[in-house]
Amino acid sequence: MDSVHDDVKEYYGKTIQTSCDLRTDTCQLGASSAADKLSVRQAIASVHDDILATYYGCGLCIPSLIEDARVVDLGSGTGRDCYAISKLVGPKGFVVGIDMTDEQLELARKYLTYHQEKFGYPAPNVEYRKGFIENLKDAQVEDNQYDIVVSNCVINLSPDKPSVIREAYRVLKEGGEFYFSDIYVQQDIPEHIRKHKVLWGECLAGALCWTDLEKYAEDIGFTKPRIVTARKVNVEDEKLLEVTGDIAFMSVTYRLFKVSKADCKTPAVVTYNGTLAEYETELPFDIENTFKANVPVNVDAELAEILRRSRYNKVFTIEDGAQCCNPKVAKNCPVDPYVYLNSDCSDASPGCAKSSGPKCC
Ligand SMILES: C[S@@+](CC[C@H](N)C(=O)[O-])C[C@H]1O[C@@H](n2cnc3c(N)ncnc32)[C@H](O)[C@@H]1O
Repeated sequence: MDSVHDDVKEYYGKTIQTSCDLRTDTCQLGASSAADKLSVRQAIASVHDDILATYYGCGLCIPSLIEDARVVDLGSGTGRDCYAISKLVGPKGFVVGIDMTDEQLELARKYLTYHQEKFGYPAPNVEYRKGFIENLKDAQVEDNQYDIVVSNCVINLSPDKPSVIREAYRVLKEGGEFYFSDIYVQQDIPEHIRKHKVLWGECLAGALCWTDLEKYAEDIGFTKPRIVTARKVNVEDEKLLEVTGDIAFMSVTYRLFKVSKADCKTPAVVTYNGTLAEYETELPFDIENTFKANVPVNVDAELAEILRRSRYNKVFTIEDGAQCCNPKVAKNCPVDPYVYLNSDCSDASPGCAKSSGPKCC
């Protein structure tokens, strides 16, 4: 454990200085794109250039509906996501970034006042704390205090991934969400690759098998991992490619909720009310579910409970146990990100639209 931490600190503290020093595109995926909401693009664009130049994430881990939220970022690096989220949660929200590498923390903290003033906040709403993501207690991150935990390309670097996921669960409030982007594989990675320090530092050698994520999430008590986006990672460096061979790495953004399974009892008919800014016509939730505004749809018991318990309850009406007359369930997208990538799930919409008459059946 200690030696992995030391190697990773060395990599992010000394070996690489900017995104340009990376030898694969792994940690540069997730720069914001035209597909992202304007508010997210603007929040990222408002982050200081020195921070943007040292961004090493592999996905966009900024979920919707985060105003006023309390957020923890696991492995916050120099703070691109923390600062962007700081703008989006507003002055009443709070963001704490956890990182173990002094050099990363130093650069992140250097721009606290810059961003506070730029966003016009009376006091900074971001804090960077030194700590290990496997043990957030030591960084004074207390139980059941946070609405959202995010993480961008960090869990693969941890030698003890179940502890990281368990800690995310511990610090979340009931109904809270773990929303994170990371690197995955579909088979065990051979030992000689696991031990390759550059490939580990580049976020590849420590990648989790996606089926293990499902297992850990279930054991710890989270809802099933829901895919938000999935894309292939390109290992462009020929020397590294010789070592990784035909292992296919993927960057996947998942969302997991802290909702008790025992409470996931009944399906429901849910209706998104269309009041969220930038999501007036529809609200994408995961690859299977995009909720059209004011259209009641059937959802299964777990999704019903997520919407009921989480911050999304502000924008949904939820009718218990109701049935559509044509109860086709949510489009059945594969949970395997590798299968998903080659499938046609991008136009997924949930459940069945209830027919407009007063009584359905
Ligand atoms: C690939 S960088 C990602 C940084 C940031 N999330 C971003 O998107 O720019 C990984 C970061 O995680 C930190 N890190 C890796 N393992 C960690 C651990 N076990 N505990 C705390 N921080 C860790 C490293 O110091 C580094 O800053």
